[in-house]
Amino acid sequence: MDPTLNNPAPAWLLPHSTAPERERSYLTVQQVGKTYATRNGDVHAVERADFDIDEGDFVSLVGPSGCGKSTLMSMIGGLELPTAGRIAVDGRAVDGPRRDFGYVFQDATLLPWKSVMDNVLFPIRTQKRVLADHRPEAERLLRLTGLWDFRDKRPAELSGGMRQRVAICRGLVNDPRLLLMDEPFSALDAITRDDMNLMLAQLWDQVHKTAVFITHSIREAVFLSDRVLVMNARPSRIVADIRVPFERPRRAQMQEHPLFNEICAFVREKIHEGHDSRRAESR
Ligand SMILES: Nc1ncnc2c1ncn2[C@@H]1O[C@H](COP(=O)(O)OP(=O)(O)OP(=O)(O)O)[C@@H](O)[C@H]1O
Ligand SMILES: [Mg+2]
Repeated sequence: MDPTLNNPAPAWLLPHSTAPERERSYLTVQQVGKTYATRNGDVHAVERADFDIDEGDFVSLVGPSGCGKSTLMSMIGGLELPTAGRIAVDGRAVDGPRRDFGYVFQDATLLPWKSVMDNVLFPIRTQKRVLADHRPEAERLLRLTGLWDFRDKRPAELSGGMRQRVAICRGLVNDPRLLLMDEPFSALDAITRDDMNLMLAQLWDQVHKTAVFITHSIREAVFLSDRVLVMNARPSRIVADIRVPFERPRRAQMQEHPLFNEICAFVREKIHEGHDSRRAESR
């Protein structure tokens, strides 16, 4: 039986489709699909993803492995083109990689021969902009992430968590319209990851950016985000859209709150619901 039949939907669960407001939304993902043609036939990596994101929102995508999160993020970032639908940021269609977006991936991919400061400034250098104009912002970000004292070190002299912090500073240095992060903390140990979550939450209180963040950690998603989009098993759909009802600044104690745990349990249930129905179908 559907548990929502007897219980009214909680206020933090958003109804899907904000269609009338589309034209005014900051990031629009409209009926987006991606089908890969492979030797073994077509793979429908993403099917009809349809949502909007407001400017300044930190939005997480969570869902089972292989459900199409990275593919969806690559399309939002213009690194891959959709085979159906349309993506636009601030009224402009995304049809290729954008200089005004920031990208952070699971692997920090720093240049080993360059210092922390030069790695952070690397996008400015490749975009042939004046480095001196952007040094103050690089300094601000390095201070906010606790890396200022390490600015002259090489990546090999840093811990994994520090390298990811450098990658986040590099993603933010050009004041991007959108920061895309694909599992930036998944290779870190649990204690470092908790520290990174707090660091990122605090950083967000200072930078106020629009962000799309992929994670396998439900608690990380709920802790960091203004909104959590839950994806189902492939062919993927958005099966729940949650506005996290906690104020900023976010504090570690938020994770002890019953409502925090209630939302996490709901997200977990939604993710497994997809798995369970697929298993039932294949029986
Ligand atoms: N270039 C490609 N060619 C063919 N199939 C692909 C390609 N890239 C991704 N896929 C397939 O699309 C599906 C979605 O992949 P994607 O990497 O987006 O999932 P994900 O949700 O990010 O998974 P994970 O959580 O494991 O990172 C998978 O079945 C994958 O095999
Ligand atoms: Mg992925």
